[in-house]
Amino acid sequence: MSADIFRNAGAGANWVAGEIANLIKRKAAAGEQCILGLATGATPIGVYTELVRMHKEEALSFKNVITFNLDEYYPMLNGSAQSYNFYMDDVLFNHIDIPRDQVHVPNGEIDKEGIFNYCKQYEALIDSFGGIDLQILGIGRTGHIGFNEPGSQLDSQTRLIMLDALTRRDAAKDFNGLTKVPKAAITMGVGTIFKAKRVLLMAWGEGKASIVKKALEESQCDAVPASYLQRHRDVKFVLDVPAASELT
Ligand code: F6R
Repeated sequence: MSADIFRNAGAGANWVAGEIANLIKRKAAAGEQCILGLATGATPIGVYTELVRMHKEEALSFKNVITFNLDEYYPMLNGSAQSYNFYMDDVLFNHIDIPRDQVHVPNGEIDKEGIFNYCKQYEALIDSFGGIDLQILGIGRTGHIGFNEPGSQLDSQTRLIMLDALTRRDAAKDFNGLTKVPKAAITMGVGTIFKAKRVLLMAWGEGKASIVKKALEESQCDAVPASYLQRHRDVKFVLDVPAASELT
C-alpha cells in the first residue's frame, strides 16, 4: 500500500485518468476487454472529465471496456437526478463510445423481494468477466468504501446495506434535506472490492484528512472499512495536499 500526494485534486484526477487510459489501451492492443470498477460522488468527477476529454480530443475508445459501479441508493428511480445511474450517464457514459450493454450500475428500482438474488447475480457477473482489473474508490467520512459502512466485514459481498447517519447527513445537500436521503443502498462488498487486481483510492480536501489518516496509519478494523485496504496487494491512495495533511 502506498500514498501519492499531488499538488491539487485536478493533478491527482488527471493522473488516475491517465492510468485508466493506459490500461484500456494496453488491453485493446492485446485484444482483451478492460474491466473497470467505478465510483460516483464528488471525488471522481475530475477523472471522468479528463476521460471524456481524452475520448474527444485523443480518440481514446471505450469499445473494449466493461464497467461495474460500486453502488446505488435504495430505493432509487434510475432516472432521478440523485441516482448514481443518472450521474454516470451524465458525467461519463453519454459522452463516450462504450456500448450500453457493457455498463453495469446497481439498480435501485429492484423489488425488495428480489434484492438478495439481484446482488448475487451482480457479484457473479463481475466474476464471469474474470474480476475487476482496476477499481477506483472515494472514501466517505465514516471510512466507507463503496457504501460499506463501519461494521462491514472483509469478506462481505454485494448486498443491501443501511447507510450510516453521517453518510446520510453528508448526502443531505444533494437531496434538499436529510429526510429525503434514502436509508439504504446496494453496494459491492469489501470482499468484492478486494478481488480487484488494482485499487486506486482518491481523497481530496481537508474534510477527508482525519479518515485518510485512520485508513492508512491506524490498525485495520471494521470501524474503518477503508483500513482493510492495507491488506490488498496493489492499492494506492491518491491524495491532494489537504487530504494528506494529517499523515505522519
Ligand atoms: C460512491 C461511493 C462512496 C463515495 C464516498 C465519497 O460511489 O462509493 O464511497 O466515494 O462517499 O463521496 P464524495 O466523493 O462525494 O466525497
